[in-house]
Amino acid sequence: MLTSDQRQQFVDDGLLVLPEVLPLAEMVSLRSRMAEIVDAFDPDEHRTVFSTTDRDQRRDQRFLESSEKVSFFFEEDAVDDDGALTVPMDQAINKVGHAIHDLDPTFDRFSRQPLFAEIAADIGFVEPLLLQSMYIFKQPRIGGEVVWHTDHPFLWTDPPSVVGFWVALEDATLENGCLWALPGHHKRGPKERMRRVEHRPGEIGTRMEVLDTAPFPTDEGVALEVAAGTVVVLDGLLPHWSAPNTSDRSRHAYTLHLIDGKASYAEDNWLQRSPELPLRGF
Ligand code: FE2
Repeated sequence: MLTSDQRQQFVDDGLLVLPEVLPLAEMVSLRSRMAEIVDAFDPDEHRTVFSTTDRDQRRDQRFLESSEKVSFFFEEDAVDDDGALTVPMDQAINKVGHAIHDLDPTFDRFSRQPLFAEIAADIGFVEPLLLQSMYIFKQPRIGGEVVWHTDHPFLWTDPPSVVGFWVALEDATLENGCLWALPGHHKRGPKERMRRVEHRPGEIGTRMEVLDTAPFPTDEGVALEVAAGTVVVLDGLLPHWSAPNTSDRSRHAYTLHLIDGKASYAEDNWLQRSPELPLRGF
């Protein structure tokens, strides 16, 4: 699938943009399938009454449980202290994650298509495992910023092996909050590491460990404006960011994160699978 130049570019930049390699019809059908999933979601069923004091703990727990679920995450301020939505569903939802590639047949098929398997093999995966999936909505006007970060600190393996496939389901522009990246900066070490910790007996959450306080040189950021059907391949140590959506158009994207089964997966990563839902390859 990839030319030797493209492979070298991924080594040098930690980034590869593959413009419009997926047919538009496939982008449309994936968006339709997600619309069905959203339609079937009943916020009241998932509504939990929780006080402000244990709100963070509840949020942590939902996050950890999403390792092997199709979980809905909402925009800041779209949920009140009782867990009720304060705005209509189509303005409240931020993303769906993190096991939709294993639990929904449409997303399973899409995620395990030969194109992705070929890209993974071409960039050096020996034993690719599909670890995490996210459907990101980036809603018109309210879709929030995702701050500069790298993915490896959240999905830690030794040696680092995580790679993200970012699929534009709609055109991504400066106005609707396209990705930005720092090509070449994946060669520097991680700046942080998220660990699963026990805050108090029985209360499991996460803690971010700071490894390097130097900020990312964000003024060197490159905007990745891409058309629907484009696949962006991101090294797990490549810094990336996306701005808030200030436009009237949504910016749906689907992301898939792979790790190599040859690397050792940290036991204190937030994302853990039970034996009933083991990680699978292509
Ligand atoms: Fe990311």
